[in-house]
Amino acid sequence: MEFRTALAEKIGRETRLEVDPDRELTVTCGSTEAMLASFMAILNPGDRVAVFSPFYENYAADGILSGAEAVHVPLHAPDWGFDLGELRSAFRDKGCRALVLCNPSNPCGKVFSREELVSIGAVPGSSFFERPVKNLVRFHFSRRESTLREAAYRLKLLPSKL
Ligand SMILES: Cc1ncc(COP(=O)(O)O)c(C=O)c1O
Repeated sequence: MEFRTALAEKIGRETRLEVDPDRELTVTCGSTEAMLASFMAILNPGDRVAVFSPFYENYAADGILSGAEAVHVPLHAPDWGFDLGELRSAFRDKGCRALVLCNPSNPCGKVFSREELVSIGAVPGSSFFERPVKNLVRFHFSRRESTLREAAYRLKLLPSKL
């Protein structure tokens, strides 16, 4: 069996995500390469990308190498929640095209709740890439306007595509 097909089946078993091995799966040497590949795949020089802050240090380098400008959306101590208005503003007012979601977060250890993920999924106008545990970078992207919403649906966080 082809390696990527086997991986797609494993991801399906473990996450319930249906992954197209030819179109939606890229094998890389670790998360560092995967995140940079994701930046370069969807962002053009000059594009803006929302990054929850504090953030894993490599995301700054990813921005420099891809030419994308980071817009930091703060996670607020002590529970590292975010202000949905600030996140919406990053897309609506600052023109971000994507969101980096590191879950659980490195460095602050925040685990995004189901409700938070649903609210992120309802922010229109973006794709997002997520670096969850087990060194799997999930990259959710389509040309549709409500890509986040679509991704939340695919993650079974929303009952319908709305
Ligand atoms: C959020 C995050 N991304 C990337 C990496 C690096 O991963 P890799 O060694 O698979 O490139 C780490 C390592 O701790 C990390 O925490």
